[in-house]
Amino acid sequence: MNAIKPLPDLLISQIAAGEVVERPASVLKELLENSLDAGASDINVELQEGGVRLIRISDDGGGIAREDLALALARHATSKICSLSDLERVASYGFRGEALASIASVARLALASRLAGADRAWRIKSDDLAIAPAALAKGTQVEVADLYFNTPARRKFLRQEATEYAHCDEVLRRMALARPDAAFRWSHNAKLKQQLAASDLAGRARAVLGEEFFAHAQQLSVSAGDLRLSGYAADPAYSRAGRDAQYCFVNGRYVRDRLLAHAVLQAYADVLHGSRHAAYALFLELDPAGVDVNVHPAKTEVRFRESRGVHQFVFTAVQRALAAPPGHAASTHPANLSAWRPAQQLGLVAPGGAGHAAAEPAASAYYDFVAAARSPNAPPAAGFADSPPLGHALAQLHGIYVLAQNAAGLVLVDMHAAHERILYEKLKTAMGARLATQGLLVPALLGASETEMATAAEQAEALAALGFDVAAAGPRELAVRAVPALLANADVGDLLRALLLDLRDYPASEVIAARGNELLATMACHGAVRARRQLSLVEMDALLREMEATERADQCNHGRPTWIQLPLADLDRLFLRGR
Ligand SMILES: Nc1ncnc2c1ncn2[C@@H]1O[C@H](COP(=O)(O)OP(=O)(O)O)[C@@H](O)[C@H]1O
Ligand SMILES: [Mg+2]
Repeated sequence: MNAIKPLPDLLISQIAAGEVVERPASVLKELLENSLDAGASDINVELQEGGVRLIRISDDGGGIAREDLALALARHATSKICSLSDLERVASYGFRGEALASIASVARLALASRLAGADRAWRIKSDDLAIAPAALAKGTQVEVADLYFNTPARRKFLRQEATEYAHCDEVLRRMALARPDAAFRWSHNAKLKQQLAASDLAGRARAVLGEEFFAHAQQLSVSAGDLRLSGYAADPAYSRAGRDAQYCFVNGRYVRDRLLAHAVLQAYADVLHGSRHAAYALFLELDPAGVDVNVHPAKTEVRFRESRGVHQFVFTAVQRALAAPPGHAASTHPANLSAWRPAQQLGLVAPGGAGHAAAEPAASAYYDFVAAARSPNAPPAAGFADSPPLGHALAQLHGIYVLAQNAAGLVLVDMHAAHERILYEKLKTAMGARLATQGLLVPALLGASETEMATAAEQAEALAALGFDVAAAGPRELAVRAVPALLANADVGDLLRALLLDLRDYPASEVIAARGNELLATMACHGAVRARRQLSLVEMDALLREMEATERADQCNHGRPTWIQLPLADLDRLFLRGR
């Protein structure tokens, strides 16, 4: 062991940079926050090579005095807080005073600024801290070039240019949503990517999340005590294959927060199929003293003082916003509906895992039902003694439901949901080793975006473990040479796109280990029979038998039901038929 020595300054910053400067997008996030903290209302961002080569951001904010330029680059120097009580109710994005210092320790940074009212601008370079006059009409311009030029080990973790750009784009979208009052403009490799004029939230949400999202979105604006939730939650018809359209903001700060995500997930649980992901942009506002933002250097995690209250509030607000009109139930006799409980919740595992109590009673009702249907004491409907629990298929309704008759009465099956559930279980079982692969005689060609091309190349291993063989066939085209055998008849294009989206953000090893079930859910959804497919009675019966076999896997999943039982007694009541 060596003697104990204080670390050199540069190394301290480089260590701190490990937490804050994960990739170009995290640099960009810090710089955007600084511009907004400085009161900017117009922000222009130029990126080169995914932000690795260059990030240049110009704002029209209040600027920095010449004599403060060197301090701005110094560690633990900030203009935003000066006491613990400031920290406890911080309203600015920044407060740690270490972003610029960290960035400057792993890249070439130049900061030019013109203090509001000053007659000229000055520029400082991080390498020698030399200050020289600059040409800048107003505000501040920060240039970060050659990220990780001096830390090759970190450089190795950078992904392909398209992926790094995609992350930058995402950071910009989040900021743009958080601050509709500011104008944003960004370009990549000198190509203009987005230009957003200052707007209200509706205008910004429409521009950033798209017309289609907006058309499906329920607007929210609810307050209780000092909690306020506003924003948009898309109805389930606009659900997504991935979690790419889920935005939560707390006091204007984009956060990834389990508590909030869980509250929203629960609010959707009744209406959203388990393998699909909700789309929303929600803004929670509360007294800054009620939330700790100093949890992680990147400041995307928060801690609520009254976490239960926040959870309940968000859950209720979103659930009310989503409460759908009674729809199909309207045509039946309302008095009898209570008896028509789904016999089991058979959907897929909801993202975020198990453990929401609401589904349990329904599941046990199913087991009771199966027990009753099999029990010799059940009312012996003639000819049904050996009938399987879900009975035999009678017909297909509107290409969506399978009608079957069993001892208790009528069984209605949502054939897509049921098949999806079966596939999911099979995939899970098969996943033990590698999924069996089936080669395609003729590779399927698939147009792909830059990001999709990049993800396919980087995640070839993960895709192989999932049973896919995918290769680039051109600059914007993928060739699918093999697919999982279980999904040989699936629509490969949609399926693969959904998978690539899931794989985009996570390293391969993690994806398979931690998110495997969600991926399988995505695959099952795309592999399952689509609505409107005509099935023969034999096929329908096969589906029913597979459902029974799957249930015996004794797995309690959550989501929408795959089938319901309409007992004869209830049908009799509907027709006022005494027995
Ligand atoms: N775009 C900008 N406009 C005006 N001042 C800025 C800008 N960027 C940085 N600064 C100044 O530099 C300081 C240090 O920035 P930073 O290292 O990000 O720490 P923090 O944001 O936590 O204070 C800020 O407190 C602010 O005074
Ligand atoms: Mg900052």
